[in-house]
Amino acid sequence: MRQLLITSALPYANGHIHIGHLVEYLQTDIWVRFQKMRGNRAIYVCADDTHGTAIMIRARAEGRSEEALIAEMSEAHQRDFAGFGIQFDHYGSTHSEANRAVCHEIWAALRQADMIVEEEIDQLFDTEQGTFLADRFVRGTCPRCGSKDQPGDNCGSCGATYGPVDLVDPVSTLSGSRPEIRAAKHLFVRIEKMHDFLAEWTQSGTIPTESANYLKNFFLHEPLRDWDVSRPAPYFGFEIPDSPGNYWYVWFDAPIGYIGATAEWCEREGEALDDWWKSEKTEIHHFIGKDIQYFHTLFWPAELKTAGFSLPTQVHIHGFLTVDGEKMSKSRGTFIRASKYLEHLEPEYLRYYYATKLSSKVEDLDLNLGEFVARVNSDLVGKVVNLASRTAKFIAETGLSVDYPDDGGLFERFADRGEEIGAAYENGDFGKAMRMIMELADQANPYVEEKAPWELRKDPTKSRELQDACTVALNLFRTLVIYLTPVLPELARKTGELFDDPLLSWAQAKTPLTGRPIAKFTHMMQRVDAAKIEAMIVESREEGGAPAVESASETSAPAFVAPDDKGEALAANPIAPQITIEDFAKVDLRVARVIAADEVPEAKKLVRLTLSLGGEETRKVFAGIKAAYEPADLVGRLVVMVANLAPRQMKFGLSEGMIIAAGPGGEDIFLLSPDEGAVPGQRVG
Ligand code: MSP
Ligand code: ZN
Repeated sequence: MRQLLITSALPYANGHIHIGHLVEYLQTDIWVRFQKMRGNRAIYVCADDTHGTAIMIRARAEGRSEEALIAEMSEAHQRDFAGFGIQFDHYGSTHSEANRAVCHEIWAALRQADMIVEEEIDQLFDTEQGTFLADRFVRGTCPRCGSKDQPGDNCGSCGATYGPVDLVDPVSTLSGSRPEIRAAKHLFVRIEKMHDFLAEWTQSGTIPTESANYLKNFFLHEPLRDWDVSRPAPYFGFEIPDSPGNYWYVWFDAPIGYIGATAEWCEREGEALDDWWKSEKTEIHHFIGKDIQYFHTLFWPAELKTAGFSLPTQVHIHGFLTVDGEKMSKSRGTFIRASKYLEHLEPEYLRYYYATKLSSKVEDLDLNLGEFVARVNSDLVGKVVNLASRTAKFIAETGLSVDYPDDGGLFERFADRGEEIGAAYENGDFGKAMRMIMELADQANPYVEEKAPWELRKDPTKSRELQDACTVALNLFRTLVIYLTPVLPELARKTGELFDDPLLSWAQAKTPLTGRPIAKFTHMMQRVDAAKIEAMIVESREEGGAPAVESASETSAPAFVAPDDKGEALAANPIAPQITIEDFAKVDLRVARVIAADEVPEAKKLVRLTLSLGGEETRKVFAGIKAAYEPADLVGRLVVMVANLAPRQMKFGLSEGMIIAAGPGGEDIFLLSPDEGAVPGQRVG
């Protein structure tokens, strides 16, 4: 029996769980359930990732403590996970005393190994908010091309990369004030000291080949840079014991949270933490997304190694979710929260669909909504559940035959595939496992059609034959469900009830059930109703731009009030100095129609729009909205533009105006459009 400690990445406490996150938590949950069914000892631990500037700023804007905010988010996360049948053995928080203790231990080891160095660095400081500013809270003029209103790390117009202190005329987006440059002491981990160890460990088969090669070619062929792990006060996190006024950067204590959460579980279960984190007998498996692999394949093993903890046995890395071939998008309604999905659809549909798409490769996966409906309906309802729904009722009175009937070797073939299907699960090739299971289902259905129990039933002399046919069909069904149990725990539970014999172990697939009663057949799974998907998308779109305030009466848990409505957006970007009506009148805003929208291949963020003001009047405008909108979706829609803005020569051409949008940038850009009836050329004011 193997002993396994399994983790998923710790979700940030500053956002809700969405269908993208679920790729990972479902993948992990399926793997954990599979291990448990195989008789291995497996525990699944996770926690909320609670620290950092974002939480601090949000709590301030909402006028409450960080602790209150993270408690509420933890509850929401756990409710969403439970709704999808994701079963943790422990769900903790990085803001726990258990985690603090492990941070201290690892820190002391890093000090001991002489891996911590101090350095003064220049940072922007917001004197009004009294805080240092992370890159994303600063905007200013690009030091290279002079474009205004650029973020603190790289320019959206010319693509230059720089540090926030390099910005010309920087502005804090927290207060609107001009930040000043202040030197502050930071603590760095000298990862380079572990270079040889990492070079070997990352190439030892513990991480996917694609990732190992990438590290070898881009990171490990030159010295590793020191990693900045401290932030000066104010910061929501743990204060560094030997450096008062400095806090560990969120990414320092987040992975340590895996150990902190395990420590809490050990405390509760009376287990020894060292058996799980400092013992050869435990395998450690991390499941993470490709966006956070450097933290898990460089910094994390370096720390573990230095502090004498076990290294991960395997880091399972998955790709990102797209919906209908595109990045999840609020404006398209495909940025779907876990809770929104559950209002409309069954969790098992998504569990199955993701399983069909998952492999051990670091590949993005697409949720194709049409295919989702077809897959679930044809595979689960049409091929699997159908076996039981067409037979169980005919032997409600007689029960299963006493001796297993001759089925031409069908059952044995089903049982024999168990190891191969198990191996596919073990390797993370869930898609392959699902295909093999459906191939078996394709052999079971012809048997039922040939026997036609609904015909046999009409002939009283054939009651024995009927019982035998149903016994075979139901046993084949049960074997399929055993193989599907890691993916479909609810279907497995109902199947266990049908036979009055819970499905708990893989080995149950080896022996058919005979001579026992069959419970009354109750509905096991409904077909997916495409109209519900449509409703979910429409609601996600409506609520996506400005998340609706969830009313307290709707849910028994405390309502989470969307931060923007509480004033975060305003606090992040206060109202500008007063102007007169004459000042405003200088700005000529017009309704315009997008008649063409083209990618600008050289610029990641830009779309080139051709706007019509009616008649022959057109304007070409570059807009930094690529992360939020697909060019093709923009064509035809009405927007509002600044029509009398002085044209500006950009690297890619002349920009003859500007379109109006709200939001902080990136994916969060919301174009304004007039209500129906407006026509291009009309003045706005
Ligand atoms: N807090 C960090 C992880 C710390 S682990 C010590 C974090 N949190 S997260 O909430 O942003 O993401 C949690 C996990 O969900 C990550 O592994 C991430 O890759 C995954 N996903 C988030 N969005 C995703 C998609 N759209 N698609 C697939 N996985 C995604 O990162
Ligand atoms: Zn620039």
